[in-house]
Parts: sequence; C-alpha cells; structure tokens
Amino acid sequence: MITVAPSILSADFGHLSEILDLVSSTTSYCHLDIMDGHFVPNITIGPPVVKSLRRHSKLYFDSHLMIENPGKYLEAFKDAGTDLATVHIEVGNTDSLIKLTKELGMSVGLALNPDTKLSAVAPFLGEIDLLLVMSVFPGFGGQKFMPIALEKIYEAKNLRDELNLNFKIEVDGGINLLTAVDCVKAGVDILVSGSTVFDAPDPNIMIEKLKSIA
Ligand code: DX5
Ligand code: ZN
Repeated sequence: MITVAPSILSADFGHLSEILDLVSSTTSYCHLDIMDGHFVPNITIGPPVVKSLRRHSKLYFDSHLMIENPGKYLEAFKDAGTDLATVHIEVGNTDSLIKLTKELGMSVGLALNPDTKLSAVAPFLGEIDLLLVMSVFPGFGGQKFMPIALEKIYEAKNLRDELNLNFKIEVDGGINLLTAVDCVKAGVDILVSGSTVFDAPDPNIMIEKLKSIA
C-alpha cells in the first residue's frame, strides 16, 4: 500500500488549513517543508505555523527539516505537533539528533541529498522510522526528478530485507504519474508530491491516482 504525502510547499500559503482539510479526504499524511535560508536557499515556515496548522488538522505531520541546526529546534517542532521529524544526514551530529528526536517522543526520519551515497546513512538504518531519499536538491518545488534516487530506493529496500529492519522509504522531488511508477517498482513506501498534487485541478483526484499506482 503506497502512502501519498502531499507537500504543502506548492499549495497556496494563504489557505493552508483549508488545503489540509481538503486533502484529508484522500490521505492521512502531510509533508511539511521547513527551510531556513541556510541549509537550502529558500525560507518557508517554522514551528508557529506548524502549531497553528495542528489546531486545524488531524493529519500525520511529517516535518522535513531542511535547516542547518535542527537540534536547536526539534523540541519546538515537537511542541508544535510534529509526529515525525526528518533531519538531513548532511548537517552532521546524526547520532545525537536521532537520540533527541526519540527522547522528545517523535518518530525519526533521516534524509539524504542526491549527491550523498546510501552508505552515509547505512549505519543509522536500524535506528530510524523513515529514510527520505531526495530525488531533487532540496529548496524548491517543481524540479525534475533525478533517477539516481531509484538506485538508492532499491538498495535501501534490499538492505532493509537483508537486515530485517522496519524503516519506511520515502521519496521527495519531481514525483509525477510517471516517476512515481519507477519509484514504486524500486520499492518506495511513501511518495511526497507537491506540484503534481497542488497544480492539479483536483488535488484529491491526483492523490488517488498516485495511490493507485501500486
Ligand atoms: C523540495 C521539497 C519537496 C517539494 C517537492 O525541497 O523537499 O518536498 O515540495 O515538490 P515537487 O513535488 O513539486 O517536486
Ligand atoms: Zn520535502
């Protein structure tokens, strides 16, 4: 069963709570892109906005932290209502970030950029709930899918089977009805989709189409 995680980055930020309400008829999962203008060249939302959205929504909040110093803000994201916090391997301190996320009572995600090898995250696979394979360089919606992600998804799935682990595999960036098929074949569990879902005339119909790919 494939989960579709709509990424609000491509939604109308003036109507976020209505948009979460809208997509909650086809998914229970929501991907929140948190950017600080340092780790990535774009700035989006922080804990206060997540907290406001939490008051209006029961969706599972998957906060993708594209920030330089996630350790400083994990508690604030937890207090704001984040269910799962994903940090990037590239920011370092991975051991302590995983530990802190668990101590705070959130599920743990670990993301890797297109130019980071799967071997970099391999030592942590037994400790995480989610591996986020980036199929674009993070920062902006609407970019083209990078096929390097497919090899990593396939490799991660094989490692998970071999080592009898439980983490989910999520892919993020450039997901459309074609690239989603390749990702599902490679073994992905969760498809993040921003522009494909929110540029569609009806986001719920697009979510259903993506879900039915499996
Ligand atoms: C990119 C973000 C993505 C983004 C994906 O840095 O992490 O979640 O919203 O957007 P699309 O689906 O348009 O590539
Ligand atoms: Zn994302």
